[in-house]
Amino acid sequence: TLTVDPAAKGAKIDDTMYGVFFEDINRAADGGLYAELVQNRSFEYSTVDNRSYTPLTSWTVSGSANVVNDAGRLNDRNRNYLSLDAGSAVTNAGYNTGVHVEQGKTYDFSVWARAESGTTLTVSLQDADGTLATARRVAVRAGGWAKYRAAFTATRTGGDGRLTVGSSSAAALDMVSLFPRDTYRGESNGLRKDLAEKVAALRPGFVRFPGGCLVNTGSMQDYSEASGWQRARSYQWKDTIGPVEERATNSNFWGYNQSYGLGYYEYFRFAEDVGAMPLPVVPALVTGCGQNKAVVDDALLKRHIQDTLDLIEFANGPVTSAWGRKRALMGHPKPFHLTHLEVGNEENLPEEFFARFTEFRAAIAAKYPDVTVISNSGPDDSGTTFDTAWRLNRDAGVDMVDEHYYNSPQWFLQNNDRYDSYDRSGPKVFLGEYASWGNAFKNGLAEAAFMTGLERNADVVKLASYAPLFANEDYVQWSPDLVWFNNHASWNSANYEVQKLFMTNVGDRVVPSTATGTPSVQGPISGAVGLSTWATTAAYDDVKVTDADGATLLSDDFSGDAGQWTHTGGGSWTLQDGQYVQGDVAAENTMVSAGDTGWHDYDLHVKATKKSGK
Ligand code: AHR
Repeated sequence: TLTVDPAAKGAKIDDTMYGVFFEDINRAADGGLYAELVQNRSFEYSTVDNRSYTPLTSWTVSGSANVVNDAGRLNDRNRNYLSLDAGSAVTNAGYNTGVHVEQGKTYDFSVWARAESGTTLTVSLQDADGTLATARRVAVRAGGWAKYRAAFTATRTGGDGRLTVGSSSAAALDMVSLFPRDTYRGESNGLRKDLAEKVAALRPGFVRFPGGCLVNTGSMQDYSEASGWQRARSYQWKDTIGPVEERATNSNFWGYNQSYGLGYYEYFRFAEDVGAMPLPVVPALVTGCGQNKAVVDDALLKRHIQDTLDLIEFANGPVTSAWGRKRALMGHPKPFHLTHLEVGNEENLPEEFFARFTEFRAAIAAKYPDVTVISNSGPDDSGTTFDTAWRLNRDAGVDMVDEHYYNSPQWFLQNNDRYDSYDRSGPKVFLGEYASWGNAFKNGLAEAAFMTGLERNADVVKLASYAPLFANEDYVQWSPDLVWFNNHASWNSANYEVQKLFMTNVGDRVVPSTATGTPSVQGPISGAVGLSTWATTAAYDDVKVTDADGATLLSDDFSGDAGQWTHTGGGSWTLQDGQYVQGDVAAENTMVSAGDTGWHDYDLHVKATKKSGK
């Protein structure tokens, strides 16, 4: 029996309650939401990004060409370029199966080129069956670097195309680019239309970006001569704005290169386009996600705090301000209306994090008192770190705290009441990342049930976003995900449909209700508990899962074969000297039998045998 009192007034639900969290994981940016079709367009791929990379990854050379890093470079922040000999050509393989083009659509090619005595470039698009568009000739003037353009109209549809650039005379090339003209809202340096439209269809209240682990991992140094042109550096917003050819590419925590073509300006513009509040996350000078190290460097901390103030000015400042002017020069004189900003992500060292967070918060409050500064509660939804973080946040009167959890569908069913008992006078909750383990219908259903609990507590839970948002099916670091894609198609998960149902039907107020005689939330469980590893450069040995009594349920010493491990991601996994070294693998073992509705404790023991930067 369901009893509803329409006259009673429950919590008010904010329009911004449900949003999306975009992180460049699973190649969600380059080869994904960012519409660029050429992979490694600036020849900056490096073994630091991924041990299988070279500056010519995704390129093949016919004739003779080298990647050069010398004083003839395009600019200091884009250090490599291609030196192509007369009569030679290079071909790009794009992402996934190749460059996807659709018959009748226009594609814009551009390149920065330099040829001492001038040259003619021949640019063509083909697949195994032949030509995909009429080849173009581009005349390069004698002299220094300049940008050249050409447009193609595809005469056929092809998903595994290749872009070839040949040169009659010796030439230097950089930023070889091919963009569909038909991007989301036709914007330049734009987003892939089908993917952006899927996000827009959710009508998100906010867009949290750019990560996740992406944000608080890596060196906090800048990209300069003084820092040795740091590659594995943390995500720093200033690297990601301005002309794309001056955005220094970087290693991505998730094991590949990030071009930053999709950067802070594009994130702000996208949030605005889909009617969402932008919600950036900046690093708190504590490296997280397994690195767990507090950076002790006052000058560096001050620089990052200043960068954060500059970010607010970039988003909201008048065109007469230094950073507001940069926004205007990029094409957006009006402000982006930033109201919320998060410092840190899943911080494992609560005290160290909080000391730094406090400095960020004080500086922001002094200059921008209306901006809500969001703190966080560590990587887990319970335990000592979580309790300490919450205590510190509560004692300091923090406005909002980010919580993250990934759990079984059963957990979501059984924790519908999680926020019923949260302190109404304490910080509000930003549920920045959550998902049940799976993309099946039962996962969507469990998440829907849980979301009724979020909504019932909308006075405490102010913002919530499922995570991760996107996965390129050929490069999966993390699963489940909300939307899946390859180079020509995209499809929604059951979980997406649940998010859409809630996000496009946000109420104004909760109408309190009670229910009696409801069936047990514990349905029969069948199947396996999955275990996956996602670190890409660490080496592991002796993986073991035990039950609470120490009995071994799953173990592997990687002594020579894949055994119970399934390869799930892009690239490949390897065994070296009896250790799991690289790639994305998952092991499954049946630990819970069908019909078993009880709770079980599992402990995972992993011996890392190599030091890893990631
Ligand atoms: O959503 C994937 C990852 O999960 C995020 O990067 C991190 O914050 C969390 O551990």
